[in-house]
Amino acid sequence: MAGKIPRDFIDDLLSRTDVVDIVDARVKLKKAGKNYQACCPFHNEKSPSFTVSQDKQFYHCFGCGAHGNAISFLMEFDRLEFVEAIEELARHHGLEVPREKGGPPPVSEAKKQQQEDDYALMEKVTRFFQHQLRSHPNSHHAIDYLKARRLSGDIVKQWEIGYAPSEWDGVLKAFGTTPGRIRQLIDLKLVNQNDNGKQYDFFRDRIMFPIRDRRGRVVGFGGRIMEGNSGPKYLNSPETRIFHKGHELFGFHQARQKNRSLDQVIIVEGYMDVVALSQFDINNATAALGTATTPEHLQLLTRSTNHIVCCYDGDNAGRQAAWRALENALPALKDGVKLTFLFLPDGEDPDTMVRKVGAEAFMALTNQALPLSRFFFESLLKAHEAGTPEGKMALKAAATPLIDTVLGENQKLLLREELAKHTGEFDRFRLQHDIAQANQPGGRTANRKFETVNKTRQSPVRMMVRLLLDTPSLAAQCEDVVPQMLANSGISGMGLLLDIHQYCQQQPGAKTAQVIENFRDHPHSSVIAKLLMQEHLVSEQEASRVYVDSFARLLDWHFDSRIETLISRSRVQPLSRAEKEELTMLMKERQAT
Ligand code: UTP
Ligand code: MN
Repeated sequence: MAGKIPRDFIDDLLSRTDVVDIVDARVKLKKAGKNYQACCPFHNEKSPSFTVSQDKQFYHCFGCGAHGNAISFLMEFDRLEFVEAIEELARHHGLEVPREKGGPPPVSEAKKQQQEDDYALMEKVTRFFQHQLRSHPNSHHAIDYLKARRLSGDIVKQWEIGYAPSEWDGVLKAFGTTPGRIRQLIDLKLVNQNDNGKQYDFFRDRIMFPIRDRRGRVVGFGGRIMEGNSGPKYLNSPETRIFHKGHELFGFHQARQKNRSLDQVIIVEGYMDVVALSQFDINNATAALGTATTPEHLQLLTRSTNHIVCCYDGDNAGRQAAWRALENALPALKDGVKLTFLFLPDGEDPDTMVRKVGAEAFMALTNQALPLSRFFFESLLKAHEAGTPEGKMALKAAATPLIDTVLGENQKLLLREELAKHTGEFDRFRLQHDIAQANQPGGRTANRKFETVNKTRQSPVRMMVRLLLDTPSLAAQCEDVVPQMLANSGISGMGLLLDIHQYCQQQPGAKTAQVIENFRDHPHSSVIAKLLMQEHLVSEQEASRVYVDSFARLLDWHFDSRIETLISRSRVQPLSRAEKEELTMLMKERQAT
């Protein structure tokens, strides 16, 4: 990990960047009035509701609410991490990303160079295995095997499937041309070295599947044995400096390449399952690499899709694997994500199943998969007899610690509610829930939501924040507006307004893109996101008038409430001199407006 990227650099980068270029290079935009439009890349739609504003350097979809600046677009569309998106933009402008001192030392040039070399070598070895499949004297076994598995030539090419030659030194000879290269082959676990110092290929006489990471770089291989040979059915590259199994999913990169947006991802168990499904034009399958699905896998997937179908054999081992995946998934299960479980008939895997029933029937199965809550309670109810008080207690004892690990509050609530039904405590659950809700400011959820929506339309504070986000120059332009005057007013949202107003005042040239960038990690960044999604129907000409008016309304509010406080205090005890003066001043002020 390197030191922090300086804020100034990010602001500067954004001011050099045109979000229209960045988007247009990925999604063809059409000019529509002042703005640009396209069908939204983040949800399926027929008529364009995705709008990019060049003025504001900001995009927004009226259909699904996706919005942000050039950095957010790269994060969402290219599915990059924040730092990767910055690096991508910097590369676009031919800039080096500077790092602040004090942080951990930056990744050295040498290390970067080594990574590049590693990826390049893996790519070359991929080509080598592909070439061996066509030209090695023994490769007809491999070709016959692939044919017997009914893989088409196209699919073999598409998945870059290859053949690791049967010699002990195929890769070693082809690539181990210098001592440095040999070291690298050993580090990348393409070559083994035994205690006597003897070196030999790790994969021999196997069908080879290259594993690409989510950015498309080959990081490892899976090698399948052919009939008649001895050894484990699959050999996978061990962990290396570029390969971390718990983080990688076979086929995920290809699934993202093939689909503009992924409505659903199917997790299957094997390489062959992913490949066979794609031959049936089911291009959204991915496989964990011989490990259980990890929380990291889930995190990776939930950034790209809201529906994950976990597909398993219907036998006991399959159910156990599914349960392990469920346990691992809970801590990464955020609200809005649907996790379902598909159990295939005994003895079938997706490869055999899709060949038997065809693509359509297979997709129908995935759509009928068991929701997580059903699978969760069905499994627990098999182990605990909920018909007796003891069984109910055991069920509760088994379920509660698992439910507690769930990430999403709503998901957690749903499972708790379901558990309460099974243990016969549903009425008590409802009651407790209602009490908790009533004790929260704003009362019950439904009402609260309604109120927030209304408030966001009306509250002058929110209106001002909204206007500033659109037109940051307002802060410097409207000299009469001094939100600092209300710093201690206790008006809700004042803190955020103050912060944004101050930032905009200090950065009079800032565009929407810079403002949201600067507040990306602000405690109220989610409020900013919500406000940005709301239409305010204030034209640009009116913006400064509305901004000033809103502030005036806030002052009125504040004065009124202060007057009220002082008057009611005067009924109990005489006011001090200072308070009297304040009251007179406030009354005068009020009459003037
Ligand atoms: P499967 O045996 O279900 O894989 O193992 P598959 O892809 O369906 O295999 P075939 O070719 O149709 O028989 C599921 C996954 O478990 C890992 C591999 O990642 C495999 O794809 N595995 C399996 C191993 O790592 N080693 C093994 O020996 C077996
Ligand atoms: Mn199989």
